[in-house]
Amino acid sequence: MKLVTLTLLMLWSWWSFEGAVGDPQTLLLKQDCSGFTAPNLSNFNQNLNASLADLRAEVSNQRKHFATSQSTTGTSPVYAMIQCRNYLSNTDCAACLAAADAKIRNCSTGANGARVIYDGCFLRYESNDFFAQIMPRSSILCGSQSADESTAFSEAGQQVLTDLQIATPKITGYYAATKTQVAGGAIYAIAQCAETLTQDNCLECLSNEQTTVQGCLPNTNGRAFDAGCFMRYSETPFFSDNQTIDIAPFLNQGGRSTKKWFIIGGVVGGLVLVVILLLSFLIIIPGCRRSQIPKRVPRGNILEGTQLKGPTKFKYSDLKAATKNFSEKNKLGEGGFGAVYKGTMKNGKVVAVKKLISGNSSKIDDDFESEVMLISNVHHRNLVQLLGCCSKGQDRILVYEYMANNSLDKFLFGNRRCSLNWKQRYDIILGTARGLTYLHEEFHVSIIHRDIKSCNILLDEELQPKISDFGLVKLLPEDKSHLSTRFAGTVARNHKWSKEY
Ligand SMILES: *[C@@H]1O[C@H](CO)[C@@H](O)[C@H](O)[C@H]1NC(C)=O
Ligand SMILES: *[C@@H]1O[C@H](CO)[C@@H](O)[C@H](O)[C@H]1NC(C)=O
Ligand SMILES: *[C@@H]1O[C@H](CO)[C@@H](O)[C@H](O)[C@H]1NC(C)=O
Ligand SMILES: *[C@@H]1O[C@H](CO)[C@@H](O)[C@H](O)[C@H]1NC(C)=O
Repeated sequence: MKLVTLTLLMLWSWWSFEGAVGDPQTLLLKQDCSGFTAPNLSNFNQNLNASLADLRAEVSNQRKHFATSQSTTGTSPVYAMIQCRNYLSNTDCAACLAAADAKIRNCSTGANGARVIYDGCFLRYESNDFFAQIMPRSSILCGSQSADESTAFSEAGQQVLTDLQIATPKITGYYAATKTQVAGGAIYAIAQCAETLTQDNCLECLSNEQTTVQGCLPNTNGRAFDAGCFMRYSETPFFSDNQTIDIAPFLNQGGRSTKKWFIIGGVVGGLVLVVILLLSFLIIIPGCRRSQIPKRVPRGNILEGTQLKGPTKFKYSDLKAATKNFSEKNKLGEGGFGAVYKGTMKNGKVVAVKKLISGNSSKIDDDFESEVMLISNVHHRNLVQLLGCCSKGQDRILVYEYMANNSLDKFLFGNRRCSLNWKQRYDIILGTARGLTYLHEEFHVSIIHRDIKSCNILLDEELQPKISDFGLVKLLPEDKSHLSTRFAGTVARNHKWSKEY
C-alpha cells in the first residue's frame, strides 16, 4: 500500500512538473527502428549526419519549429524531418532535437529508418521521401487519473478535440493550441500536423488521432501520435496561457461549400469504388481459383517504423488438442493452402488453425520462418491477423484470429444469401479496399494479393471485412502452387452477383 502511495505521489509530482518554462518536454512517447540496414554503411552515415546537421542548423539558426532535409548522394540516401510543438521556445526546441538525435542513433547501426516521438518534438528519417505520408493507425498514451467531474470533463474534452480537428488543417502551419474552462479547472489542448502534408491528409490524420485520443477521456490527460500529426490534451498546463490560438474563425468559415464538395467527392469516390470492386469481382474473379504468384516489391523503407517481431510459436500438441485432433467437425473450410480448423485453446481463446499443404520441398523450410515473420507483422483492422505458427516434421501450421461470420461468399452465394443490407455491403467494400491499400501500398514491403475473392474476405462478429490468405504463396510446395482453391459449400455464380446488386 505504501509503495502504491509512493508511486502515485511520484507520478503526481512528475505530471505537475510538465510544461515548466525552459523544459524541452523530452518524455519519450515512442521510438521505432527499422529492421532493415542501409546498403552502404559509410555512405549512409555520411548522409544521416549531413541531414541531421541540416535540421540542427534550421532549428538553431533560422529559429524554425519544422524542417525537412535530404542528403541523397550515393546508394543510401537519407530524408529527415523535425517538428517541435510551436509553444516550445527555440532553445527548448533545439534541446529536444538534440535529445532526439542521440536517441535515434541508438537504433542498430545502419537502421535505414527510425523515428522518435517526444511530448515536445518528433524526429524521423527514412531512406526515401516520406514527407507527405500519414500513418494508418495512431498510438495512444493516457493519464491514469480520472477527472473530478468526469461527465462534464468528457463532454468538454470531446468538443475541444473535435474543434481542433476541424480547425487545425485550415490554419497556416497546421498548429493550434487552446485553453477551455471547465468546472474546477481548464483543458489545455493542441493539435499539429507535419507542414508537408496536404490539407486533406492533415484532416485525415487528425481525425484518426481524435478518435484515438478520445479513448482517454474522462482521464485528465491523453495523447495520440503517429508520424504525420499529434494531439494532446491535459488538465495540467503544458504551455502558457498567452500561447493559445483563437480557433473560432476556422470552425465555420467556408464550412458549407467545403462540406458540399466533401459530400460530392465522397459520393462520386464511393460510386467509382463500388463499380471498380464490382467489376473486379465479376470479371477477374469468377470462382475460387488461385491466380499467379503474388508479387513483392521491397520498398526498402519502413513505413510503420516498427522493428519486426518474431511470430509466436505454438506447440503442436496444444493445437492438436484445440482442434480435437484436427477433426472433420472442427473443419471450417478447405483452401488452396490447406484445411482450416476452428480451435479452442486452453485459455478459452478461439482461433483458426490453418494446416498448410505439406510437400517434400526443402524450399519451404528456408522460407517458412521469414515469411511467417513478415506476415505476422502485418497489422490492419481489415487484414486477418496471424497470431503465430508451428512446425512439426513436414507439417506447417499457421494460427489466425477467428472470424465469427466466416467468409463473404456465404453471404453472397451460400446459405446466408441475401441477408446483407446496403450499409453492410458498402462497409465490406470499403473495408476490403482499405485492407488492400494497406497491403499494396502502406506496409513496408508491398505484398500484392492478386487473389481477392469473396471466400478470401472474412467477416468478424460485426460483419467488418478482413482479408485473408495474403503472403502465403511462398509457403506452398512448388508442385502445389497451381492448385485451385475449394471452399466448402461455395459455388460462385456470376449472375447471382448481378442479381444481388
Ligand atoms: C559506399 O559509399 C562510399 C561513400 O559514399 C563510396 O566511396 C563507396 O564506393 C561505396 N561502396 C560501395 C560498395 O558502393
Ligand atoms: C556521424 O556522426 C556521429 C555522431 O556525431 C559520429 O560518431 C560519426 O563518426 C559520424 N559519421 C560520419 C560518417 O561522419
Ligand atoms: C542507448 O542504448 C544504451 C544501451 O541500450 C543505453 O545505455 C543508453 O542510455 C541509450 N542512449 C540513449 C540516448 O537513449
Ligand atoms: C507569456 O507568459 C509567460 C509566463 O506565463 C511569460 O514568461 C511570457 O513573457 C509571456 N509572453 C508574452 C509574449 O506575453
